[in-house]
Amino acid sequence: MKLGLRVRILLLLGLLLVLAFVPLFWAVATYTNIALFELGLSHAAALGRTAARHVLVERSRRSSSELLGLLSAETKTQGVLAIGVYDAQGRVLARSGEVASVDALERRHSSGAKLAVGQGPTRHWALAVRADDDQGSVVVAMRMAPRSARAAALVRIMGLYTAVMAAALLLAAYFALTRLIVRPLGELSAAAERVAHGARRLEVPSGGAAELDVLGTSLRTMTEKLMSEEASLRHKIDEVERATERLAQAQARLIRSERLASVGRLAAGLAHEIGNPISALIGLEDLLLGGGLSDEEQRDFLQRMRRETERIHRILRDLLQFARPAAGYAHSTDSEPGDVATAVDDTSALVLPQKGMHDIELVTEVEPNLPAVGLSREQLVQVLLNLVLNATDACGPGGRIRIAAQRFGPAEARGVSIAVEDNGPGVAPQIRERLFEPFVTTKEVGKGTGLGLAVCRGLVEAAGGTITLDSRVTSGARFVIELPRAESGAHPTP
Ligand SMILES: Nc1ncnc2c1ncn2[C@@H]1O[C@H](COP(=O)(O)OP(=O)(O)OP(=O)(O)O)[C@@H](O)[C@H]1O
Ligand SMILES: [Mg+2]
Repeated sequence: MKLGLRVRILLLLGLLLVLAFVPLFWAVATYTNIALFELGLSHAAALGRTAARHVLVERSRRSSSELLGLLSAETKTQGVLAIGVYDAQGRVLARSGEVASVDALERRHSSGAKLAVGQGPTRHWALAVRADDDQGSVVVAMRMAPRSARAAALVRIMGLYTAVMAAALLLAAYFALTRLIVRPLGELSAAAERVAHGARRLEVPSGGAAELDVLGTSLRTMTEKLMSEEASLRHKIDEVERATERLAQAQARLIRSERLASVGRLAAGLAHEIGNPISALIGLEDLLLGGGLSDEEQRDFLQRMRRETERIHRILRDLLQFARPAAGYAHSTDSEPGDVATAVDDTSALVLPQKGMHDIELVTEVEPNLPAVGLSREQLVQVLLNLVLNATDACGPGGRIRIAAQRFGPAEARGVSIAVEDNGPGVAPQIRERLFEPFVTTKEVGKGTGLGLAVCRGLVEAAGGTITLDSRVTSGARFVIELPRAESGAHPTP
C-alpha cells in the first residue's frame, strides 16, 4: 500500500521532532538534576556543620548521659540521620540515630576530608560532616534525597512542556505544509482528472506557491497540446473513414460493373437461343394466319407457341434477375445467407441457353441439405457464373464442366465447399501466380477484362471464405471455393 503525502509529512515531521527534542530534554533534565543535587548538598553541609560544631562544643561540658540526650535531640531535627562522637583515637564515645551509616561514613573520613557523600548500609543517600578538635571528632550524617527524586517534579513539568511544544510544532508544520503543497497538488490532480473525464480545459488552482504555478501552467500547456493533437487525429480518422466509404462504394461499383459485363456477355450468347423460338413462332403464326386449319390443329399450334414464348420469357427473366442490383450487394456481410443448391440451379439456367453451351456438357452434383453460407444467392451466382463462363471459354466445343458442392470440415461441418472444374487446357502458367489480381487476363481486348476472378475473391473473402486454384490437377482447371456456414439462426434464401 502506498502512503499518502499527508501521512508521509506527518511521519517525517514526527521523526524530526523526536530527534530534536529528546536529546534537548535529556540534556536539560540531567543538568537540572545535577544543579539541584549540588544545591541540596551545600544546604545539608551547612546544617550538618552547625550541628557538628554545636555537639563538639557541648561534648566537654556534659556528662555522657546528657550528651546522649543532646545527640538524640539533634537527630530529631530535620535532615539529621545520625550523629557519632569519637575520641582522638577514633573510638566511639556516643552515637545516636542510624549508627551504622554514621560509622561507615566516619571511616571514609580517614583521608581527612571534612565531607563525604555515599550510600549507607540502610541504602539512604547521606552526607557526612565532620568537625574535630584535639580531643576527638563529631560526625553528623545528613539525609540526602536521591538525585532523581529532587528534580522529579521539575523534570516532569519540563517533559510536559517539551511534549506540548513538539505537538504544537508538529501540528503547525503539518497544516502549513498541507496548505502550501498537499492541497494545491490535490486541486491540480482533481483538475487533471476532470480533463481525463472530458473537460476541455485544465483549470489551474490560483494562489499557490510559484513552483506549483509553474507546474500548473506546464500541465495546462501539455493538456492543450494533447487536445489539439487529439482533434487533428480525429480529423484524420474522419478522413480515413470517408476514404474507406468511397473505397467501399468504388468496390461495389466494380462488382456491379463486372456483373453487368457478364450480363452483356450472356445477352450476346442468347441471340441464337431466343432467335430459334422466335423463328418458330413466326412460322406458326403464318400457318394460323393462313387459315383453313381444324380446331384441333389450331389448338396444337397455339400450345406450341405458348411453350416457345414461355421459354423466351424464362430466359429473359433469369437474365434480368441476375442483372438487377441487389440490396446490400456491396457488403456481403449484411446480405442474407444464400442456399448453394439454388445458386447452382440459377447459374445453370443462365448458362445453358448460351450459344456455346450446346456442345458442352454441364454436370452439377450438389449434396442434399447443405447449410446456408455467408454469401447471398446473387453473390453466389455471380461467383459461379464467372467460373463457369471461364471454363466455357477454356474448354470450347466438346468440353465438360462439373459443379460439385458438398460439406467440408470435421464432424461438425464448418461450411460448404464448391468445386468448378473443366477438362480444358488449364490455367496458363505465366498468370497462375497473379491469377486473382485484377486485370490479369489472357483474353483479347473486348472478350475479357481480367476482373472476374478478382471480384470472386473479394466476395468470397468478405464472407470469410477462400477461393483457390487446385494446383494438384494436371489436366484442365479446378477452382475450389470454401465458405463457412452462415451464423446460426440464419436461413437460406431460396
Ligand atoms: N477454367 C479456366 N481454364 C483456363 N484458364 C482460366 C480458367 N479460368 C480463368 N482462366 C484464366 O484466368 C484469366 C483471368 O480470369 P478472370 O475471370 O479473372 O478474367 P477474364 O475471364 O479474363 O475476364 P472477365 O472475367 O473479367 O470477363 C483468364 O483470362 C484465363 O486466362
Ligand atoms: Mg472471367
